[in-house]
Amino acid sequence: MARRKKIYEGKAKILYEGPEPGTIVQYFKDDATAFNAEKKAVIEGKGVLNNRLSEFFMTGLAQIGVPNHFIKRLNMREQLVRSAEIVPLEIIVRNYAAGTMSKRLGLEEGTQLPRPIVEYCYKDDSLGDPLVTEEHIAAFGWASQQDMDDILSLALRVNDFLSGVMMAVGIRLVDFKIEVGRVYDGDFQRLIVADEISPDSCRLWDIETGQKLDKDVFRRDLGSLTDAYTEVAQRLGVMPRKATPVSKPTLIN
Ligand code: TYD
Repeated sequence: MARRKKIYEGKAKILYEGPEPGTIVQYFKDDATAFNAEKKAVIEGKGVLNNRLSEFFMTGLAQIGVPNHFIKRLNMREQLVRSAEIVPLEIIVRNYAAGTMSKRLGLEEGTQLPRPIVEYCYKDDSLGDPLVTEEHIAAFGWASQQDMDDILSLALRVNDFLSGVMMAVGIRLVDFKIEVGRVYDGDFQRLIVADEISPDSCRLWDIETGQKLDKDVFRRDLGSLTDAYTEVAQRLGVMPRKATPVSKPTLIN
């Protein structure tokens, strides 16, 4: 593809102008950051895995009628997406206590919550994405009441879909984050799931062993992040399993 104009560079992705108006090319980098970019590393292969995994989840969501920005994958690290006006909220859905919720409420990590709990953080790195309530969102005009109804419904549908897909391959969806954006079809405005859905923005635990298969492996120095994401991709059938070595023929006496 010819040289394109860079629109934005974030911690894990670069956005370029797409080939047609209203489209964007999302490039997945190998960079990993945690604790609001205080911890940084380059994890070889992470971008390739997240490109494929986000494609897999977004395609599945589209098949069950959950609107999202994904158009098509272009190559190993890039996908074409519909451009959307991002609502400045990180929308978090939690099924089990972990991370900041465990700290805030003194809940042991892994405690099952009485029902999925949706939280909102204001998207601002310089403030560390603070937790906000619907009161803040309404008062500052970040989203309308109609938007909030749509966001809740999208978030819970994504949760049911992802929980089921993961459970089928022996993985517990502890929590995840999505972002949504506004798109315009003529005068009609609607919200779609945007950004990415990948192990960078989910907590995924093996159901049997509790092994972490998400970005906590990097945050908490628990081993190889690429191995963890590869395991998720292989279980979902997104990446081929490494061929099992064929044993040499043995002589039978
Ligand atoms: P949370 O427990 O609030 O924060 P942390 O990951 O710092 O412990 O995160 C809940 C889930 O949402 C977790 O899977 C990570 C994801 N998340 C992001 O991907 N980006 C964010 O900016 C935030 C706030 C959460």
